[in-house]
Amino acid sequence: MNSAPVTALPHPTESADPGAFARPDRIHVTGGTPLSGQVTLRGAKNLVPKAMVAALLGSAPSVLRNVPQISDVRIVTGLLEAHGVTVRTGENRDELVLDPTSMDRADHAEITAHAGESRIPILLCGPLLHRIGHAFIPDLGGCRIGDRPIDFHLDALRAFGAIVDKRPDGLHIEAPQKLRGTKITLPYPSVGSTEQVLLTAVLAEGVTELRNAATEPEIVDLIAVLQKMGAIISVLDNRVIHITGVERLHGYVHRALPDRLEAASWACAALATGGDILVRGAQQGSMMTFLNMFRRVGGEFEVDDDPSAPGIRFWHPGDSLHALALETDVHPGFQTDWQQPLVVALTQAQGLSIVHETVYEKRLGFTSALISMGAQVQLYRECLGGTPCRFGQRNFMHSAVISGPTKLHAADLEIPDLRAGFSYLIAALAAQGTSTVHGISLINRGYEDFADKLNALGARFEFGAPSES
Ligand code: EPU
Repeated sequence: MNSAPVTALPHPTESADPGAFARPDRIHVTGGTPLSGQVTLRGAKNLVPKAMVAALLGSAPSVLRNVPQISDVRIVTGLLEAHGVTVRTGENRDELVLDPTSMDRADHAEITAHAGESRIPILLCGPLLHRIGHAFIPDLGGCRIGDRPIDFHLDALRAFGAIVDKRPDGLHIEAPQKLRGTKITLPYPSVGSTEQVLLTAVLAEGVTELRNAATEPEIVDLIAVLQKMGAIISVLDNRVIHITGVERLHGYVHRALPDRLEAASWACAALATGGDILVRGAQQGSMMTFLNMFRRVGGEFEVDDDPSAPGIRFWHPGDSLHALALETDVHPGFQTDWQQPLVVALTQAQGLSIVHETVYEKRLGFTSALISMGAQVQLYRECLGGTPCRFGQRNFMHSAVISGPTKLHAADLEIPDLRAGFSYLIAALAAQGTSTVHGISLINRGYEDFADKLNALGARFEFGAPSES
C-alpha cells in the first residue's frame, strides 16, 4: 500500500470547491443555450460509499482512488470516523486512505447525526457485526422515489444468525455468535440487499449461496474490491453468487469505476439542449443499454477508447428526435436512474413516448414539475407498453405517456430527489426564460462540482442570493 503524505492535504470531507456545500440552496437557470464542451467523471456514487464500507472488513488500511467530492462520501466518512476508523486524503485529492485498525463501538447519537439523508448506513451491518458484534442503524434517508423498505436486508441478516431488534430510535442488531453462511433467495434482485449479503458473507463461517442477486456494474466492482481483500466470490449464471467465507480480510487498493449514471445525465443534457458534450471517463461497456436507447431517440454518440483519455461524446444531430417506448429494469436492463433525465429529452421528441418504471413505484412523480413547464405528460397506474410489473395492481402512477415536442417555459421547481434534481436543471436549460430550482443541495449527493461543469459547458445560471431566503 502507498504511504500517503497528509499534512498539506485537506480532510476528505472538505470539497475542492469549498463553496459547493455552503451556497444558497437555489439556482436561477436561464435556458436556451446548447450545452457544449467536456466534463470528466469520477468514481460511481453507487460504488464509492460501499467500497468505503468494505474497508471496515479489513485488518489493514485500504486505499480507494477516483473518489468524487459528493455528500454521500462525506456522510460515510462521518459514519466511519464515528466508529474509530481513520479516513484521510491520500497522495492525490481523489484518493482516500481508510484505516479500520482502531475500530470501536460508536455513540448512537453520533451515528444518527452522521447518517443524514443516506441509505448507506444499512450496509454497515455485516461489517460491524463481524468486527464489534453490534450494529445500530437509525432511520434511513435516501431519495423519496418509492417506499424503499429494508425487509430483504433484515431477512438476510437474520439468515446469517443476527438478531434484529426494532426500537423507536432505530435498529439494534446483534451477532450473539459468529455469523454463518446460508442460502438466500432475494424476492427481487435488489442492489442494496445483494451488497448486504456480499459484505456479510465474506467473513461468515462457511458458504453462502445468493440467488436472484443484482448484477449491476457497481456490484461487480464491489466484488472486485472484496476479492482484492482476500474474499472468495463466484458469480454464476442466472443471478447466482457463491461466497466462501474466509477467516480474515486485508486492505485493498482500488480505483472506483466511473459513474455511468452521471455520464447518462450529461448525455441527456446534450440531447435536451441541442448540445454536444464529451464525457471523459464514460465507458461503453457499462452503458450499452443506455447507448441503444440514446441512438433510438435520435442522439448521436462516438466512443473514444484511447486509454490515455477514454470517453464518449454525445450530441444532438439537429434532426427531430424520435418518440420511443422504454421500460426501466435491473441490470442489464435500462437503469431506473437513467429514466428521469431521458424523460426530459423525450419532451422534445416527435410523437408519443411510453415509459414504464418498474423499479421505483414513485419515480415518475417528478414529471409534475415538467408539466408546469409546458410538457405534456400523462401518468397511468397500469403497466404500459410491456411486461406487467410488481406495481401493476397496486395503484401506483408508474407509467407515463409523453407527447412531444413541446416548448418548455421557465418555472419555479422544487427538487424531490437526486436524479430528478439534475433532470430539472436540464429542463430549465432547455426552457425559454429563467427558472428557479430549489433544493439543489440534493444534487451534491451524487454530482461532483456540477456547477463548475455546467459553467464549463456554457450554461447560464447563478446561485440564488442569500437575501432571498
Ligand atoms: N426493495 C425492497 N426491500 C428491500 C430492498 C429493496 O422491497 O429490502 C425494493 C425497493 O423498494 C425497490 C427495489 O427493491 O423497489 C430495488 O431497490 P434496490 O435495493 O435495488 O435499491 P437501493 O440499493 O436502495 C440502489 C441505488 C439507487 C438505484 C437502485 C437501483 C445506491 C445508494 N442507490 O438503491 O440509486 O436507483 O440501486 O439500481 O446505490 C440514485 O443513484 O439516484 C439511486 C436512487
